[in-house]
Amino acid sequence: MLRAQSSALLSLKMCADCANSLFARKSTCHLHPIPLLAIWLRFRRGALFLLLSTLCVTTLLVGGCGKSEPASGSGSGSEKKAKSTYTIGMSQCNLGEPWRVEMNAQIKAAADRHPNLQVVFKDAQNDTLKQRSHVEEFVSAGVDLIVISPKEAQPLTEPVAKAMDAGIPVIVLDRRLLGDKYSCFIGADNKKIGHAAGEWIAKKLGGKGKLVELKGLMTSTPGQDRDSGFREALAGTGIEIVFDADMKWLEPNARQEMESALARFNKIDCVYAHNDPGAHGAYLATKAAGREKEMVFVGIDALPQEGVAYVQQGILDATFQYPTGGAEAIDTALKILQGQTVPKEITLGSRVFDKETIAQGGQELK
Ligand code: FRU
Repeated sequence: MLRAQSSALLSLKMCADCANSLFARKSTCHLHPIPLLAIWLRFRRGALFLLLSTLCVTTLLVGGCGKSEPASGSGSGSEKKAKSTYTIGMSQCNLGEPWRVEMNAQIKAAADRHPNLQVVFKDAQNDTLKQRSHVEEFVSAGVDLIVISPKEAQPLTEPVAKAMDAGIPVIVLDRRLLGDKYSCFIGADNKKIGHAAGEWIAKKLGGKGKLVELKGLMTSTPGQDRDSGFREALAGTGIEIVFDADMKWLEPNARQEMESALARFNKIDCVYAHNDPGAHGAYLATKAAGREKEMVFVGIDALPQEGVAYVQQGILDATFQYPTGGAEAIDTALKILQGQTVPKEITLGSRVFDKETIAQGGQELK
């Protein structure tokens, strides 16, 4: 190739005079007195240039000219070679709530059924910056796939995009990110759940009453969707939201916010909390004020040992199931690692548990 390049350069040098002559609108030069020869040599310079460029591009494409880089941007994992063991990094935003402990337990149980899978768990303890670092650490460690249940949408979007750029597929569980730079999102339809909760409450209250809404973290998508779906369902009814607050998914916050609501309003007909810990916190504050018989309590999650048990004990009037998606995440991870195509979005179902439906294992939301 080197020899071809230097002889090409030589030819170019040889005909430079012709070219100059032509550019100067002369028909000959001192090396090539016959005009046609000068024209041919000029044409040959162009042909050589074309040939050299084609050669260079081809060489670059087959990777002989420089170091080949790993395929980036796809994050699909399909171009990776089959391995005997795969490492999955699981970034959990918090383990303070039973629902998240359950999610990790489901992931572990599902992964334990596959001896070729190893899951490394990290708990960000409800700290967004810590969760960002966890994702970055998984990328530097070169895990084969990342599962993330992000605390908030916006701040976790960039580290996940970088993982995808590094060729690591990412499954997003339960709370969404911004944009669509991830391999697959798994979660239930929070807007639908919020809407169903609104319809259930409107029916229960006979279409009118005063209500307290205790919201999940409003920088996370389930909080936003459980609020918007709910408000849509209440539109046109006589139900008034007299107090709302962001309790950030946490029971102690919900309890405190409910104390403020109770102090301000001497009649409250219903509490709608975006999760069962929130509804339970509100119940405890109301019970401490001796007013728990005055209102209806509705939550979301429906873990058997938490929300469903509260309905059985008469603490909550209804809870709407929000599946953790742990088992589905491992299922999907395996498919991605084996090079199969997976849907961009997997929507999980939900059920309502109230006095009427609890004995039959709840009722599916349509
Ligand atoms: C746990 C939790 C659940 C809720 C989910 C929403 O952190 O608050 O109670 O359903 O997150 O992402």
